[in-house]
Amino acid sequence: MSNIAFGIDLGTGNIKIYSTARDTITNEKNMIALMKKDILFAYGDAAFEMFEKAPQNINVSFPLVNGVIADIGNMTTVLTEFINELTDGRGSGADYFISVPTDVTEVEKRAFYDLIKDSGLKPRKIMMSEKSLADGLGMGIDVKTSQGVLVVDVGFETTEISVLSLGGIVLSKLIKIGGRKFDDAIRAIVRREFGLVIGEKTAEQLKIELTKTEAEHKPAVVYGRDLVTGLPVERSIPTDLIDTTIAETASVIVDNIKVILERTPPELSADVYKKGIFLTGGSASLAHLDELVVKGTALKVNKAENPQESVAYGLARIIKDPNFRSVAYSIEDMSEDI
Ligand SMILES: Nc1ncnc2c1ncn2[C@@H]1O[C@H](COP(=O)(O)OP(=O)(O)OP(=O)(O)O)[C@@H](O)[C@H]1O
Ligand SMILES: [Mg+2]
Repeated sequence: MSNIAFGIDLGTGNIKIYSTARDTITNEKNMIALMKKDILFAYGDAAFEMFEKAPQNINVSFPLVNGVIADIGNMTTVLTEFINELTDGRGSGADYFISVPTDVTEVEKRAFYDLIKDSGLKPRKIMMSEKSLADGLGMGIDVKTSQGVLVVDVGFETTEISVLSLGGIVLSKLIKIGGRKFDDAIRAIVRREFGLVIGEKTAEQLKIELTKTEAEHKPAVVYGRDLVTGLPVERSIPTDLIDTTIAETASVIVDNIKVILERTPPELSADVYKKGIFLTGGSASLAHLDELVVKGTALKVNKAENPQESVAYGLARIIKDPNFRSVAYSIEDMSEDI
């Protein structure tokens, strides 16, 4: 019997898999490219390469939408391919630890379990963990003994805002705002101010590029289609564009953090005040987001060192450290009325 274990964080944008066999995290786009609707053409980063570029007979899509599984068949295919890649096809009998968002229905939560159970991967054991608890562990917090920890995970299509205490979740809210909304805002402003039409992929690259070039005060060069002439062109985009563009979306995140703070019991509020907010998820890397959260909440912000992978790191800790095993639970522990 194999004693391999996997820690899986299925994100709307990226799939992260921690494997004990390699003691590393695989992080690729959570995407699938199908030819003629059902023939697997590519998955992961390779599928993303084809996104917005594929001909009509190739369909490139995300199996998750807003943090929950939208297409279980496609998600099964992507996951199975990755596990087979990581185990050279010898992964049966492995243990699976999967993170799930808190503020979703029991049926949506159970789908993460069913995904693995019905996948053909022949799991030995399937354990679930609330995503925010894994996030906390991944940021080095002892979630079992800490009180009043506010975790904000800004991902691709979602932001999860949670208050943790003594190994449990006091409050959690999942909102449909994430990196993709920032990309949309960038796309709109580039079109309006520079007369340039760009794709979603270019908008994301531009966002990441502007975060990098800002420190050097260098503009970013972007390629797209001229709105008027329809011809392909290049434009130079100044770095301060990002400031104005992210403000609106960031303020929605800040408002939702405030709602959670208002609902937090006062004794825990005091702990949150002392510790500050723990900001993570891939979009925590976005320039100025942390400053806007500080400004909007008057709290200090601790940014994760490796924000995109903090959930997967947390799952790795649950797998490796028996002290944290109790943070994960099995499906039998879930309520019976589903
Ligand atoms: N350096 C960076 N600067 C700005 N944004 C970044 C950077 N690196 C990654 N991102 C953004 O992070 C997002 C992906 O983060 P993450 O992998 O945490 O999301 P996810 O887990 O797939 O989504 P979700 O949690 O919403 O289901 C993308 O929108 C990406 O553009
Ligand atoms: Mg995520």
